[in-house]
Amino acid sequence: MTSQLESLKKYSSVVADTGDIDSIQKFSPDDCTTNPSLIFKAVQSEKYTKLVEDVISNSKSRKFKNLTDQIDYISDQLAIAFGIELTKIVPGYVSTEVDADLSFNTKATIEKAKQIINSYEQSGIHKNRILIKIAGTWEGIQAVKELEAEGISCNCTLIFSLTQAIACAEAGAFLISPFVGRILDWFKSNTSYELDSTNDPGVESVAKIYNYFKKYNYKTVVMAASFRNKEEIINLAGCDKLTISPALLEELSQTEGVINPKLLSSESTKVDLPRVNVNESSFRWHLNENQMASFKLAEGIRLFNKDMIKLKDLIKSQL
Ligand code: E4P
Repeated sequence: MTSQLESLKKYSSVVADTGDIDSIQKFSPDDCTTNPSLIFKAVQSEKYTKLVEDVISNSKSRKFKNLTDQIDYISDQLAIAFGIELTKIVPGYVSTEVDADLSFNTKATIEKAKQIINSYEQSGIHKNRILIKIAGTWEGIQAVKELEAEGISCNCTLIFSLTQAIACAEAGAFLISPFVGRILDWFKSNTSYELDSTNDPGVESVAKIYNYFKKYNYKTVVMAASFRNKEEIINLAGCDKLTISPALLEELSQTEGVINPKLLSSESTKVDLPRVNVNESSFRWHLNENQMASFKLAEGIRLFNKDMIKLKDLIKSQL
């Protein structure tokens, strides 16, 4: 009998959503994604004490203007050190996220992305293995436009609306990460709708983005992210990529059964989705009109930044 995970892999590229190296090996995913919260979690695991110690000790042979610069350097190098390990165990892409506090600064995002790529290349990892993860703010998307034009592939993250997704695709983003579970979280906390797997608003959001991209021939890869349960994944089978936590990968691998594709590019032309023109003012307007998307984008940036600060405090305590 086939497991649901094996069956799913026939229709979607499966990606591991974790910084935990051991759990990735178990499920043979194509790619791997991390974010500041996942890196913070991984850094605290005893399994990676040596990796953390090595990064800290290497930093000591460099000169820094002050302690803050040293901590910033270590925090970047930690994400890259995990990324390097991850490139050894997945055949495809590894996503590394730019600091959340740069989400409204195009120039600084571009600089940080180039620094990350340089560090990878100095360690012998070619840029074609790395996706720079950048929040889907207007400023972030402008950085993506420039980076893609210079041959650096990006993963636009914290995507909660079609408007954000279209802006990313028109900027030439290699990939977008539309979130599923965080949309469901918002609807559960802010509405009294009866929600189940037949009307999950996170699943509906990704299906709409996928159909729009295929209907209008955008090449940007759609990688659904942020899952709360197995049904969300099953209902998005067929999506280009799905990034899944180790716990849900385990569940899928332990359940026998056949999964049928729910998203089909051949069906997308039939979906009634009018073309939308996105420019800076319409982007800001639509996002402002969409209470869920504007809240979740802002909250997502806040939470990633919070974990980045916690990581820096942890580094400080170890210096
Ligand atoms: C991956 O790219 C996302 O950062 C991740 O899926 C978010 O998941 P969460 O909503 O469970 O934190």
